[in-house]
Amino acid sequence: MTTPLPLRDSTEIQGDILAGFKKDYMTLLFLQFGDVTAARNWLAELIPTIATTQQVAAFNQKFHDARENSAGDDPKNLKATWVGVSLTYPGILFLTGKEKVFGDKPTGTIRAFVQGSAARAEALGDTGCNEPERWIFGSAQKPPIHAVLTIAADLKDDHDNELRRQTEAASRAGILIVHPQSGATLPGSRRGKEHFGFKDGVSEPDVRGFDVPVDDNGPGKVPAGQFVLGADGATAMPAGAPDWMKYGSFQVVRRLGQDVPGWWAQVNAELAKLREDEVVDGNTRSEWLAARLVGRWRCGASVAKFPDAAPPAGTKPDNDLSFRDDPHGVTTPLFSHLRKTAPRDGLVDKGELVDVEEFMDARRIIRRGIPYGAPFDPANDDGGGPDEPRGLLFVCYQADLARQFEFIQTDWVNDPNFPHDRDPMPGPDPMISGKLPDVTTGEVAFESRVNGNGDRKTTMLNFQPFVTTEGSVYAFAPSLTTLRGLSRGRLEGATSAGGQTGGQTGGQQTTTTTGGQTGQPQPVQPGPLDEILPWPDVDGRYWIFSGRTVRVAGTGTAEVEQLTTGADDRTGTLVDLGTDLSTWAAFAGVEKVDAILPVPDEQGLNGESSYWLFHTKGGTQVYRRVNIAHDARHTSRRIGDDQQLSRWNSFGGVTRVDAVLLVPDQLRDNGKSWYWLFHTTPQGQRYRLISIADGRMHSDVMERGDRDLTKWTSLQGVGKVDDFLYVPGRFRVGGQSWCWVLHEQQYRVISISDGAGHPDTRVRDSRPNAPWCRRG
Ligand code: HEM
Repeated sequence: MTTPLPLRDSTEIQGDILAGFKKDYMTLLFLQFGDVTAARNWLAELIPTIATTQQVAAFNQKFHDARENSAGDDPKNLKATWVGVSLTYPGILFLTGKEKVFGDKPTGTIRAFVQGSAARAEALGDTGCNEPERWIFGSAQKPPIHAVLTIAADLKDDHDNELRRQTEAASRAGILIVHPQSGATLPGSRRGKEHFGFKDGVSEPDVRGFDVPVDDNGPGKVPAGQFVLGADGATAMPAGAPDWMKYGSFQVVRRLGQDVPGWWAQVNAELAKLREDEVVDGNTRSEWLAARLVGRWRCGASVAKFPDAAPPAGTKPDNDLSFRDDPHGVTTPLFSHLRKTAPRDGLVDKGELVDVEEFMDARRIIRRGIPYGAPFDPANDDGGGPDEPRGLLFVCYQADLARQFEFIQTDWVNDPNFPHDRDPMPGPDPMISGKLPDVTTGEVAFESRVNGNGDRKTTMLNFQPFVTTEGSVYAFAPSLTTLRGLSRGRLEGATSAGGQTGGQTGGQQTTTTTGGQTGQPQPVQPGPLDEILPWPDVDGRYWIFSGRTVRVAGTGTAEVEQLTTGADDRTGTLVDLGTDLSTWAAFAGVEKVDAILPVPDEQGLNGESSYWLFHTKGGTQVYRRVNIAHDARHTSRRIGDDQQLSRWNSFGGVTRVDAVLLVPDQLRDNGKSWYWLFHTTPQGQRYRLISIADGRMHSDVMERGDRDLTKWTSLQGVGKVDDFLYVPGRFRVGGQSWCWVLHEQQYRVISISDGAGHPDTRVRDSRPNAPWCRRG
């Protein structure tokens, strides 16, 4: 029996939370909204690009499988770019226009969220050199932060392109980037390590319903509700959390500066005390003590399993750890970062070892951080010096800020008296805390065995802080449904996690109901599509016209791949809920769009792109010119009245234009662009070749008369084409252009060659167009 993992299919939970973006390049943009309508529109446009758990989990699984099949090497051709968004409390108030969105006198996590991270500084040890007044972002002295946008990609170019797109979109919406914080995996042998040199991201909770159980077919260990609000039936939502928070997660972001040479010099100095105390001999190196401060060797192997020395290179980091037989920390010190942040089964209560699984589960966090700054490398001219800013861009997700992140930081990491009831006290976490003003002296009790009888001796060491808080934000990463509501200024919750619902729907894609109603998930059906128009100013974004509804679709690399070569129709485009045609000023009086043809030489001209729009009025097809602005709202304006088709020289005999396809290698070629024009005749659909000249008159010529569709090898079996769309990233690659052909509620992929005759072939057979018809 295999355990069902329904959360892997969630189209509601954002992708970074349970699945994890896990990319080499990541930037967080801390944003301040300007105008409320522009901010909502910005969010509406952003939503189709937000990565869901379903997408990220599917990609990560594929990546994992490919890696296994290539002896542990990263697959070269599997790359993705992901985007996520979270909102601070002021951000939610801004978008909703409300003065408060929680009940009076909130407590616990809701209170922490409302107050924000800077207001909690004292309790968190963010005092002295960590105080908010010195922060780069997130304090009262800096502009307020309304949203945190996460951009993550495998490739630097992809990351930079997405960052540029998002920066432009923010600027068009009048949004201020309060601080852009980039991070990247460290290079070379430092890959996967944080700046002090230790492997990071080893221990992550196994989440029930998402992760494959480690050792049996039983449930994964930690209930999903500990990380995603309302994600399982058993874990209660935090007190005071309304329904719209369901399927969302609280996000903590902290920029933690690391003084690498300072920390290692201190380790060396403290090692001298152990030598003096004859705990270790003169051959013991700083690495030995450093591993004890962390609880792991630099390669990630645990000190618990390898107490004397790091295992040979290539040994996988182990995570099946128990501290039961080390209650006093003589192998893995009680003050080590590992035991301070996840004491596991090693707690002693009144002299008895206690098993506190449930208590511990409720204090786990999911970490998604990445290093920032160049690694310490003083010989390197390029940013390796001791004073260069570097550290960890710490990001974690949880269902409860107070019970999880804050508890770990205040009650465990900073508290010298944790684990409790020890004499002397264990001391603070010497890796990330140390001596904090008014909290701790920085003293830790290093316990060692003196003989085989279990006798111990204690050597007191002293640790100064070498990790500094440089900025901090509390935010909330809402479900996709809640984000859609917020883009309309409303707070509406999702009623299910979305995606596949464990057998009930036979593995088909499901949608969720908005507006707080309880809806039965509906399988996505194929449907009529009139026109799909690529946005003129953002790659991978489309308007989908069907009847009077216009929806927005976003395709990232993964969706494009799925829509062209993939076999899985469940993962299609991400489609935003529709708006009515009447909301487009230029479309006034249009009942249904038949076809749209971009004016070849008027794309992106003076911040606008121009189109010929074909539509049917009183049974006769007419056309008009419309312009769409490259601004956040894509304001549209109509240029002149509807005209008869007979104004086109090349349209002789044409009564209904169905679709127009650009001849790929003849766009603005010597001042002329060539198109195949598909139109309906009494004998069925035919196509002809026309050209349109650049210039004010856009003179058009019929270059070749009507032909039967059967001339196209790739269109065999197609009765009537509704629309063509060139596949992003596949236009004129190696002389071939891939094209999605939408026809009769299906779509297929064809390829057209450049050059004489433009030979065409079918790349993928027709399939139902359901992936283009998702409504949420
Ligand atoms: C510059 C700051 C930090 C550095 C360099 C750092 C580094 C590390 C390293 C090397 C590990 C061991 C590898 C692993 O299990 O992933 C680790 C584990 C961990 N860290 Fe941190 N960390 C930092 C800050 C924090 C903070 C602020 C928290 C939470 C308050 C935290 C919570 C944890 C947790 C929960 C674990 C996993 C423990 C386990 O389950 O065994 N870390 N960290």
